Order: sequence, then structure tokens, then C-alpha cells
Amino acid sequence: MDERIVTAKFTVEDAQVESLRPRYLHEYIGQTKVKDNLRVFIDAAKLRQESLDHVLLYGPPGLGKTTLSTIIANELGVQIRTTSGPAIERAGDLAAVLTNLQPGDVLFIDEIHRLSRAVEEVLYPAMEDFALDIMIGKGPSARSVRIELPNFTLIGATTRAGLLSNPLRDRFGIVSHLDFYDRSDLIRIVRRAAVILGAEITEDGASEIAKRSRGTPRVANRLLKRVRDFAQVAGEQVIAHQLASQALGQIQVDSQGLDEVDHRILLAIIQKYEGGPVGVETLAATIGEETDTIEDLYEPYLLQIGFLQRTPRGRVVSRLAYQHLGFPLPNQDV
Ligand code: ADE
Repeated sequence: MDERIVTAKFTVEDAQVESLRPRYLHEYIGQTKVKDNLRVFIDAAKLRQESLDHVLLYGPPGLGKTTLSTIIANELGVQIRTTSGPAIERAGDLAAVLTNLQPGDVLFIDEIHRLSRAVEEVLYPAMEDFALDIMIGKGPSARSVRIELPNFTLIGATTRAGLLSNPLRDRFGIVSHLDFYDRSDLIRIVRRAAVILGAEITEDGASEIAKRSRGTPRVANRLLKRVRDFAQVAGEQVIAHQLASQALGQIQVDSQGLDEVDHRILLAIIQKYEGGPVGVETLAATIGEETDTIEDLYEPYLLQIGFLQRTPRGRVVSRLAYQHLGFPLPNQDV
């Protein structure tokens, strides 16, 4: 696969800069409401010496769902076990994870919407009663045996809460939505990361990177590292606006943070479907991307900046997008 700045996954390179991740709530920039509420719920659970209620985190990729889960575990002073919906294939896989938890531990399940029904069924009594119901035997002599589990906190992460089944969603006591970060928060995140990486950056330089980070810290940190590479090779000691701007242009991240795939999406709608509406599946087939990739990764930001609109009949490109791409506006109002 080619090297993309916008990805759903945490990559090996991201892991190398694990140190960029904040470890406690006071280091975490942005998402103020989520953070303030979590602070209260965590402190209350600690005062009562209880496990924290189960937490559902939802929002586009790269906004800090995994980071927040680690922070919650650190703040609670417990261990975190990490897995994902697709990794838990059978009910027995989940039972193995659950029976290995220590009291109070956090179990983080990424992409929790991708759990199978059979696995979800095991999760319900585990979440509600901290128990596993195991079926022993088959036919008329089959019976169910209950195994007690330690109290634990499940943190589920998903890109869209709507993808979750209702019974699963209803079992989370704390549901938090992560939103795109605003410019000032991203500037702070870039400056913090630059300090950790030992790179000197001006306010303008950080602002330019923030502007092109599509509201996403993961993207901001990646862009910072690429710009730092350009600075290094050019023998520049300080990342200033001009250098950041040139480097980002060079790696095809435009002034709004849109990359080559965003451009293909918008251009396909404008050039092949007269600005839309076009269904997301048709669009995906036209540009040769997965529907999920468009819906989870690209579309949320294009909607956020008003370049794309969702209508009952499909996706429509807005005037703003025509202007940004330098196309004459179509006759009808969009
Ligand atoms: N690095 C990535 N996300 C961050 C955040 N929200 N706050 C501080 N540093 C970050």
C-alpha cells in the first residue's frame, strides 16, 4: 500500500513516537467536555473504590480514542488490556481475555462494532453482572454454568455509534463523542510534539501544520514528522511557516489538508456525477476505494468543512468545494 497520511490505523511509525501520546488527563489537549466529565467519573469511582462504569468512545479515526483509554487506565491506576472487534473471533477468545483480568482493570476493545453476535452475547452478562455464562454439554443434558469475573471497565471504541447494536450500546454507562480538534488545540498539540521530538518550530510553522491536519492529532503528528524531515535535509534549524508550507505542498497535502484521495472523491462527484447526488457505493466503485474507507476516513472531514453534504439521495459537493478546486460553479444552487 502506498504511504498515506490519512489512515484508520495506528502504524508502526506512530508506535515509535508512542512518547508523543499524553499519559494523563492534564497532558491531554482539547476535547474539553469529554475530559472534564471523565475527570469527575474517574474521581468518583476512585472515591467509592469501585470500577469505573463502562465507557463508549466514538468519533472519526485519529482523534485519540486509544490514547484516552490508556489515560483512563493510568488515572485509575489499573492495567489496560487491548484488543479489537475483528481479533475476537469466537466466544472462547473473549472468555479467555475476560478471565485473565485483574480486579478494576480496563479492557479496551477497538472497532467494537465489528464483534460477532455470538461474542456480543458473551459480553452482555460480563458487562452487566461481571459473569460468564458457559454452556456445558449438548442436547437435553446441556446446562449453563456461571463463572464470576472480577469487576472491570470495558472501554469500547468505534468510528460511529450508529454501527453498534442497540443492546450493546445500552450497556455503556458513559458515552463520549470525540469531535475534530480546533486550530488552537492542534497548534498546541504540534508544539508539544515538537518539544518531545526536539524540533524547534515557530508559531506560524505550527499553525500551518495545524491548518492542514484535518482536525486530527494523528495527522498533525505525522505531518510534523514529515516537515521535520524536510527541515533536516535542507539544513534548517527551525521549522518556520515557509518551510512547513513548501514541505506540505511537496507531499500533496493541500491548503485545507486534503490529500489525493479527497481530491479524487470531490473530482469524481463534480466531473462524473455533475456535483451529485451520488450514492456512496457508486462513488467508492468509481474511485476504487472501499465504501468503509470513504465513510469512516474521508467523508467526516469533508462534511465538517462543508465541502460535502449528505442527502437522502446521496452525496453532493458544495459550492465551497468547487471554489477550492478551482472549478466554475454549476448553474443550479448547491
Ligand atoms: N497527541 C495526540 N493527541 C493529543 C492530545 N489530544 N493532547 C496532547 N497530545 C496529543
